[in-house]
Amino acid sequence: MKKQKLRRSGAKIMASLIMLLGSLSYIMLLAVVNGSLGFICAMGVTLFGAIGIAKALGEAIALSYSVIIAMCVVCGVLRGLLRYIEQYSNHYIAFKLLAVLRDKIFAALRTLCPAKLESKQKGSIIAMITSDIETLEVFYAHTISPICIAVLVSIAVIIFVGTVSSVWLSLVAVLAYLTIGIAVPFISSSKLKASGVRYRAEFASFNAYFLDSIKGIKDIVLNNAGEARKEQVNERSEVLLKETKKMKHDTTRAAAGTELAVSLSIITALVVGILLVRADMLTVGRMIIGVVAVFGSFGPVIAVAALPGNLTQTFASGDRVLNLLAEKPAVTPVKNGKKFDYTDLEVNNLDFSYDKETHILKDVCMNAKKGEIIGIVGESGCGKSTFLKLLLRFWQKDSGAINYNGTDIDMIDSENLLDNVTMVSQTTYLFDETIEENLRIAKPDATQEELEKACKMASVHDFIMTLPEGYKSRVGALGDNLSAGEKQRLGLARAFLKGSQLILLDEPTSNVDSINEGIILSALAQQKSKKSIILVSHRESTMAIADRIYKVENGRMKEVG
Ligand SMILES: Nc1ncnc2c1ncn2[C@@H]1O[C@H](COP(=O)(O)OP(=O)(O)O)[C@@H](O)[C@H]1O
Ligand SMILES: [Mg+2]
Repeated sequence: MKKQKLRRSGAKIMASLIMLLGSLSYIMLLAVVNGSLGFICAMGVTLFGAIGIAKALGEAIALSYSVIIAMCVVCGVLRGLLRYIEQYSNHYIAFKLLAVLRDKIFAALRTLCPAKLESKQKGSIIAMITSDIETLEVFYAHTISPICIAVLVSIAVIIFVGTVSSVWLSLVAVLAYLTIGIAVPFISSSKLKASGVRYRAEFASFNAYFLDSIKGIKDIVLNNAGEARKEQVNERSEVLLKETKKMKHDTTRAAAGTELAVSLSIITALVVGILLVRADMLTVGRMIIGVVAVFGSFGPVIAVAALPGNLTQTFASGDRVLNLLAEKPAVTPVKNGKKFDYTDLEVNNLDFSYDKETHILKDVCMNAKKGEIIGIVGESGCGKSTFLKLLLRFWQKDSGAINYNGTDIDMIDSENLLDNVTMVSQTTYLFDETIEENLRIAKPDATQEELEKACKMASVHDFIMTLPEGYKSRVGALGDNLSAGEKQRLGLARAFLKGSQLILLDEPTSNVDSINEGIILSALAQQKSKKSIILVSHRESTMAIADRIYKVENGRMKEVG
């Protein structure tokens, strides 16, 4: 199993996550104040009881019995109300913030893409969007405010006991809070942290494997590999169970440690109280008030002590989310750059490598003019797709020039570049929406005429008209009934609808039969005078419609006759 290491310390993660609160911090303050007052009210019920007993024991207390009883009731009712407000504000913050976080992650992904989504991390990004953000809800709703509440309530109790009862008893309280809230969790945290991180990693890996197995079930059945796969799943689930047990074991031990510390603290407070009475330093009545106050005050620190179990998972999630937010994109978008209207492309001495070591493209020179269909051929893996991505600036070139109308690509406004150049990739993704909506992502305000014109240009209009609801047919409802060729033609229609002058086609016919290939190629040939096309394929047959052909070999590109 891969070991996951946090890049930041827990404190740093907490601080960064709190920084994200921004203007929501005043609601957090409301939650903390209400939570603290609520807990103090809860203590008030028993405390006023103790005050009543102290009065009965002859302590000089200014309150009448009826006031004392009334205060008990008021405290009880207020407690409920304050708790409600506290929970409400905590969750309000948490969910509001989750929306903000999702938005931030989406924005980050937008600049990181498409390079980011090409990497192997695709799965972990999806995990992040679904589960990590959910985990952070725990942090905002159930972590920050308990810590603040524990600090505030503890300080209030220390002051109260010190003034009303005895300074010695408040000293006992201070030591108890430090032990329960800090020392015990500190001792158990390193173990808990390790098992929490391991559990989460195993959980994620199991889920990924299981999902993968379900997605590939057809191929599993076809290869009669079901039994072996089932064993694998069982094995992995066994490992996950083991990690779960370990984590639960550590959590239970930590909880037991806390309980022990609480019991010892209660005994110590009682013993100190009795000793003080015996030494005539405290009356019995005030001793009872002090001791009862201390007894009832451990709730908030116990809540803090119980945090590390959750915290380790939260930290791991927070760390991943913060990593993504801090990640530098492979290319920085050019804002307010130069604008152009495509007429020609000239590539000179272009070098590129993904990892700065293995050169994918070396010293590439080529050119294309408006109205031309340029073909690029080469064996699979030679760098054809990479070349097209460089023309769209999905990746940053190492050296050389990619000039559109004589302006280097790095100087061109990124949005303007994508207005001029578009790509139809090997597989066209169709959303589970209507055909029309799927086309409109290329041009949201397109008229029906424009949609139909683009589809006619891509030779897919007639097909759409055969569907039960035409352009309003839902892709999902069609299931797998759309063939690769039809999908590809819809992709082509998107590109035509977008109206870009230069269209890059990455293996447009590799997944389709010869009939569809013929339809797609003749659709392209008809647009030849209006659009410039760069057509990539490993099949020479596709190249029949090209005006000029370049061949990629060993990273170099040569024009062939
Ligand atoms: N995102 C990436 N990171 C690292 N290497 C990559 C990436 N994409 C492609 N490659 C590698 O670059 C080489 C060229 O890939 P590609 O341009 O897709 O080839 P082609 O389209 O000609 O089949 C291949 O060896 C491929 O493994
Ligand atoms: Mg390719």
